[in-house]
Amino acid sequence: MPAPPLPYHIAPMRLEDIPQVMAIERRIFSLAWSSGVYRRELTANPWSHYLVMRPHAGGHRPLIGYGGVWQMDQAAHIPTIGLHPDYQGLGLGSCLLLHLLIVGQDMGCSEATLEVRVSGLAAQRLYRRHRFVEVGRRRDYYNDNGEDALIMTREGLAAADLHAELAAAQAFVLTRWPAGQPQRMAALP
Ligand SMILES: CC(C)(COP(=O)(O)OP(=O)(O)OC[C@H]1O[C@@H](n2cnc3c(N)ncnc32)[C@H](O)[C@@H]1OP(=O)(O)O)[C@@H](O)C(=O)NCCC(=O)NCCS
Repeated sequence: MPAPPLPYHIAPMRLEDIPQVMAIERRIFSLAWSSGVYRRELTANPWSHYLVMRPHAGGHRPLIGYGGVWQMDQAAHIPTIGLHPDYQGLGLGSCLLLHLLIVGQDMGCSEATLEVRVSGLAAQRLYRRHRFVEVGRRRDYYNDNGEDALIMTREGLAAADLHAELAAAQAFVLTRWPAGQPQRMAALP
């Protein structure tokens, strides 16, 4: 029997996606990036790659998540990742992170790095699930509240490992939506 279709579709972020990215960004980050930052990332940073997540394969469906990866020498740095609040807690963050790490591995990176708020426990759980470990701390890193950032890294971005983790994460998502058609996604405008 064929596997049920995945409930999401991943594509490179385009300039026309920025308004939808910003609508999510303002809801999930206390220190939101501006649309100009995204515009510059897409047009003037040759070391970056951004992905968007939509329900199913419809190019005109609303975005439910997005994230980026920068190639920094051997390291794939994840500058941002986020999901629409209605779509958090379902395993989609795992899938999106793994898609970003696979892009980083394709760019030639052999490890991954990121910063996360000390209060960002859901994000830290996501990163630990995917073999990130805390390696340091940046004091007073966030301008809005002076919060520290944890520096987390993952050693080893082997393609086979990443694809196996992605398959497991996708299987998990499908356990939440056995019919491949989650009600919450169907309810999107
Ligand atoms: C952080 C964020 C991207 C995580 O995405 P998410 O889809 O909510 O999180 P996950 O993929 O971890 O899935 C949530 C739950 O699914 C389960 N799950 C996910 N993948 C799983 C897997 N492969 N196997 C078993 N369980 C799994 C876990 O129970 C997890 O819950 P837990 O973290 O309480 O253990 C999202 O919450 C978000 O956008 N937050 C706001 C923005 C933000 O903080 N971004 C990070 C900045 S550093």
